[in-house]
Amino acid sequence: MEGELSIIGNKYQIGKRIGGGSFGQIFEVIDTESQKHYAAKLEHISHKSPQVINEAKLLKSLGSSEGIPRVRWYGVQGRFNVMVMELLGKSLEELFNSCRRRFSIKTCLMLGLQFLELIEAIHKKDVIHRDIKPENYVMGINKKTHLVYMIDFGLSKRFRDRVTNLHIPFKENRNLVGTARYASINNHIGVEQSRRDDLESIGYVLIYFAKGNLPWQGNNPTNKHQKYHKIMETKLRTSVGELCRGLPQEFQNYINYCRNLSFNSNPDYEYLKGLFKTVAAKFQIGMDKIYDWSEDPKPKSKKLESRKVKRTKKKKSTLEVPETNQKSSSVVNTCNLGKWPEFKDVTKIRLELEKLKTRDKLEVTPDEKPSCTLF
Ligand SMILES: Nc1ncnc2c1ncn2[C@@H]1O[C@H](COP(=O)(O)OP(=O)(O)OP(=O)(O)O)[C@@H](O)[C@H]1O
Ligand SMILES: [Mg+2]
Repeated sequence: MEGELSIIGNKYQIGKRIGGGSFGQIFEVIDTESQKHYAAKLEHISHKSPQVINEAKLLKSLGSSEGIPRVRWYGVQGRFNVMVMELLGKSLEELFNSCRRRFSIKTCLMLGLQFLELIEAIHKKDVIHRDIKPENYVMGINKKTHLVYMIDFGLSKRFRDRVTNLHIPFKENRNLVGTARYASINNHIGVEQSRRDDLESIGYVLIYFAKGNLPWQGNNPTNKHQKYHKIMETKLRTSVGELCRGLPQEFQNYINYCRNLSFNSNPDYEYLKGLFKTVAAKFQIGMDKIYDWSEDPKPKSKKLESRKVKRTKKKKSTLEVPETNQKSSSVVNTCNLGKWPEFKDVTKIRLELEKLKTRDKLEVTPDEKPSCTLF
């Protein structure tokens, strides 16, 4: 790719490749005038569902907001659609791997609060992200190393008209858009996505970080359709209590709240943030932006360090072995659940969902004393 294209927009020199997904390849680029480093997302113009140019326009329309990458330049260059943007750091999936695929509850809460701030800001601009997953959150660099950024708006959509404020209409029989592992139940069953689906996915990402895996990971399907089917089935079968076992009660409340939101309701972000703040207060966790992967600013004595290692080891041994690191990739228009005979009858699924909601409600005991086993 570098051979065919070495300079973008007459001034950005292409450097090393820093990432890539199902849609684009990400390169570090250097502004030959200022010598500053940026990132460029390149997508071949023949891609069957091109999105980089739309992504750039959408990002521009979001304006400058903390935690949203700034776009410097976009356009067609040679045989590529290109977007030059702010250079950022490692993705949360990479950091999760470097932390042996388990984040402490403190890191989960600090991330959770930022995820909610970010998604609220994006929703305020009438946009839903539709592909919430650990690979699409990256940390900032230099003075912004403590800050989470939301990236990859390739599958995002406007859910509300900017002028009339009119919400998009409720639709069924839609294809799954996003990443099956973190997809909401409604996304699986073909309901048009809205704000509630982004929030439900955030919940799954946080549970994945806190527990090391999700119950619907690790099945060995023979094809993609079977895989999505299996994921949905397990998602429907797993009670919220089981999904959040070992975590503070507030995680269950979070999932139940999201699953009970109606299609066009305005989510109560403050309530959701409050859940995480409550956990922090109950367990006296200081939200100091020092994450599991951050370097300890005050090196402790050797004795203390070794004690910490021992404790960590013991804690890990009581938990299940983290599941294999399978890549979760985004999809669009590839899976229509309505085509599968077992899930043809959406009304039946709805009835099942209602039963599940009742079951999950019965499991919730809001006044429960703080109890959790994972931290
Ligand atoms: N501005 C950036 N700075 C640094 N790294 C980045 C930047 N943008 C993306 N990346 C890295 O590249 C990876 C892929 O980027 P992105 O998600 O935008 O591509 P994609 O092809 O749309 O991916 P997907 O498979 O999620 O659809 C990210 O997970 C991240 O690690
Ligand atoms: Mg991505």
